Amino acid sequence: MKPTILLTGKTGQVGSELNRLLPKLGRVIAPGRNELDLREPEQIRQVMRSTKPQLVVNAAACTAVDAAETDEANALAVNAEAPRLLAQEAKKIGAMLLHFSTDYIFDGAKKAPYVETDPSNPLNAYGRTKLAGEEAIRNSGVAHLIFRTSWVYATYGRNFLLTILRLATEREELRVVGDQVGAPTCALDLAEAATRIVADMIAGDKRPFAFSDANGTYHMTAAGQTSWYEFANAILEEARRAPQDLPWLASATMGRPLIARRVVPISTEEFPLPARRPANSVLSNARLKQVFGVTLPDWHMQLQKCFSPERIPANSPAVSSSH
Ligand SMILES: NC(=O)c1ccc[n+]([C@@H]2O[C@H](COP(=O)([O-])OP(=O)(O)OC[C@H]3O[C@@H](n4cnc5c(N)ncnc54)[C@H](OP(=O)(O)O)[C@@H]3O)[C@@H](O)[C@H]2O)c1
Repeated sequence: MKPTILLTGKTGQVGSELNRLLPKLGRVIAPGRNELDLREPEQIRQVMRSTKPQLVVNAAACTAVDAAETDEANALAVNAEAPRLLAQEAKKIGAMLLHFSTDYIFDGAKKAPYVETDPSNPLNAYGRTKLAGEEAIRNSGVAHLIFRTSWVYATYGRNFLLTILRLATEREELRVVGDQVGAPTCALDLAEAATRIVADMIAGDKRPFAFSDANGTYHMTAAGQTSWYEFANAILEEARRAPQDLPWLASATMGRPLIARRVVPISTEEFPLPARRPANSVLSNARLKQVFGVTLPDWHMQLQKCFSPERIPANSPAVSSSH
């Protein structure tokens, strides 16, 4: 029998893709924020108890990194208290919890890619709340998978890709931070990798999700690494090569021409933001490959795929389920 999967965050970058992919694996119940506000513990309890899922996929989060500096309580409620409660409720009914976390739980001082066992030391409020969420899940004893990812973007939503394209229609020169490195990860590739792992778990066990052999925390990002500056250059290069009537591109540029001629690398100090960011956000994906045999494509390949006319974004009219 197909498992029941409760998905949160179906309007987000990663959640939109999961909402399209997961129905192949089970009966997906995906309440929107109006049906399940994760700041409301009673709503979480009620939805968990009425839907009784075998798998909970928590793709919701408060991802406004700078806003979290002045409203850490809101970020804490969504990023830590809600996962804590989802984990407790899931444990009670023998369900598994799949959750996403972030490179921002690290301080970025390491000179090599971070592995899962490296000590955490978040530099900002968002990172602190996401770390608290991870710890609550691990401490709950629920069967869980935590996938830490980085620099997520999609052809919809709010992200660096769309910001650069918009700015490139407004300015001849773009100044972009060059001294932070990471792995830009496309929401679709991330969702595909997570879905493949869930599919294997369903296929490989008589009682889906009841086992916990693979329980734990994994890094899941695009392969390779780059800086925001190099990523911006790659975006503009691909955008100039792409068919300009690509619907998402035309919407990102509002049909205006790209007038940016130069991208200038600047330092983090030259672009002050409320929240500090790690200089090194690169995560090693070796454990993911070793345990699940899953590797995400290189960041540049992921970007190129976004500009391919064959690619259909998850926010276009598509099969979806709702609560
Ligand atoms: N974005 C990144 O660069 C990045 C980097 C590393 C890790 N991650 C992690 O990856 C995961 C997915 O991120 P994303 O980029 O897909 O996020 P996103 O696009 O910002 O989407 C967040 C989702 O959470 C929902 N949400 C927020 N507050 C809620 C609340 N109080 N109740 C119910 N739903 C709520 C939003 O619903 P509404 O549409 O109603 O607001 C939206 O569906 C998160 O765990 C995030 O921390 C993201």
